[in-house]
Amino acid sequence: MNIFKKIIYKIQFLNKRAQLKKSWEKYGFDVWHVENNIYNRPYKFQLANELSNLGLDSIVEVGCGFGEILVHTNVKTKIGYDIDPKVIQAASEMYDEVTYKVGGLNDITENSFECLLLFNWIHNISEPDLEDSIQRHQGKMKYLVVDQIKQGTPGYQFYHTFNFLLENKFSLLKTISVEKDVRNILIYKSNL
Ligand SMILES: C[S@@+](CC[C@H](N)C(=O)[O-])C[C@H]1O[C@@H](n2cnc3c(N)ncnc32)[C@H](O)[C@@H]1O
Repeated sequence: MNIFKKIIYKIQFLNKRAQLKKSWEKYGFDVWHVENNIYNRPYKFQLANELSNLGLDSIVEVGCGFGEILVHTNVKTKIGYDIDPKVIQAASEMYDEVTYKVGGLNDITENSFECLLLFNWIHNISEPDLEDSIQRHQGKMKYLVVDQIKQGTPGYQFYHTFNFLLENKFSLLKTISVEKDVRNILIYKSNL
């Protein structure tokens, strides 16, 4: 990223942060969402671009926070689930192009969607639990997009291999290493 873009992002980050701080005072969600908005986490733009390139009609993100990735993705139907009702309340007030719902992976009610996105929280759940939850929805989706904490990065609870996906009729389409970040973006396609 060139210096000019860095300065623009810094200004946009501070503006967004001031706006989100007001929402945080009202709803009291995790302050992470204020301090890590899309302008100081540019991988969210990168991910939104990758998702837009898949040419999707519908996407479900679980663990969506404000749904910033969904908002910047070019998809007709955008559904965001999050376990935290406070962040969902705040997000619903902020963006009307996303349908927000309180819940986790096991609460998805949609019978079919083209893509399931799980990003920046699954390092807190074990691989067998993740496998179990994804299997519940396997026939419903064409793509599954996840983040993977790079091996050797200290401080995370679980480092997923996602080998279970290859054993369960998914193919790995693309691995994108996020520059200056702890994670890879992995795009899988269902063979069902
Ligand atoms: C670090 S934030 C990332 C938000 C968003 N994916 C992004 O990248 O901007 C993690 C979010 O996952 C949510 N979360 C954590 N565990 C969850 C679970 N088991 N089910 C659904 N959401 C969960 C948290 O409430 C939080 O909003």
